[in-house]
Amino acid sequence: MKKKIIVGNWKMNPTTLDEAKRIYKSTKASAGKLKNVTVVACPPFIYTSAFLKSKTDSSLAIGVQNAYFEPQGSFTGEISPLMLKDLGVKYAIIGHSERRVRGETDEMIAKKVQLLLETGIKVILCVGEKTRNEDGSHLDFIKDQIKSSLDKVNAKNIGNLLIAYEPVWAIGAKEAMDSASIYEMTLFIKKVLSDLYGHEDAISTPVLYGGSVNFRNASEIFITGKVDGLLVGRESVNPPGFAELLKAVDSI
Ligand code: PGA
Repeated sequence: MKKKIIVGNWKMNPTTLDEAKRIYKSTKASAGKLKNVTVVACPPFIYTSAFLKSKTDSSLAIGVQNAYFEPQGSFTGEISPLMLKDLGVKYAIIGHSERRVRGETDEMIAKKVQLLLETGIKVILCVGEKTRNEDGSHLDFIKDQIKSSLDKVNAKNIGNLLIAYEPVWAIGAKEAMDSASIYEMTLFIKKVLSDLYGHEDAISTPVLYGGSVNFRNASEIFITGKVDGLLVGRESVNPPGFAELLKAVDSI
């Protein structure tokens, strides 16, 4: 059976290295006990080096929440995929709505996805509509987001792509989207991928759900939503809750 994947997006948390180390240690201990789940922690850039001392340690992979779309040069404040690769970073979350809202365009996202995949870093591409109407226009919106983000990607690199469906209105909310609607979106995204790359690649590209996932709803989202993984925000920096979540998903 293919392993499920759970990605923790720490966002801009916590505010001290000591606390970051505490969360990392606890996540790693929980991840080490799992059989059926790959766990990825995506802390803020500044903490990643502290967790990348051993490149061979595989119980908890390290990812980042962004990367720049040029390999190197005069780009003050930016971080290159080549630097990430060199340090042992395995995954990058790209196109999160909290970055799109602050000016990241589809074109920038397409360049980032292309360079990261060429560098050999797995990309967790975030897509999601801001609102929903009865008319189903969110489906076209998601299709366009996927198509434009993958515009520059060579099909041979598609094996390192993951899609995270995160309806913007369900992020940081009280409740996740209902699991039946998540299933509908999982199928829809696979169909879009199948039209772009063919059936086989579409089936093997993991589709994750994100938005108010916690230890209480995670199993139900897997079972009814038929996702391949989860992108978890708040609960990923809450060690007891995240440990419960991992355990629950591992036992499905
Ligand atoms: P949340 O965030 O789990 O806190 O809703 C999810 C995300 O933004 O990736």
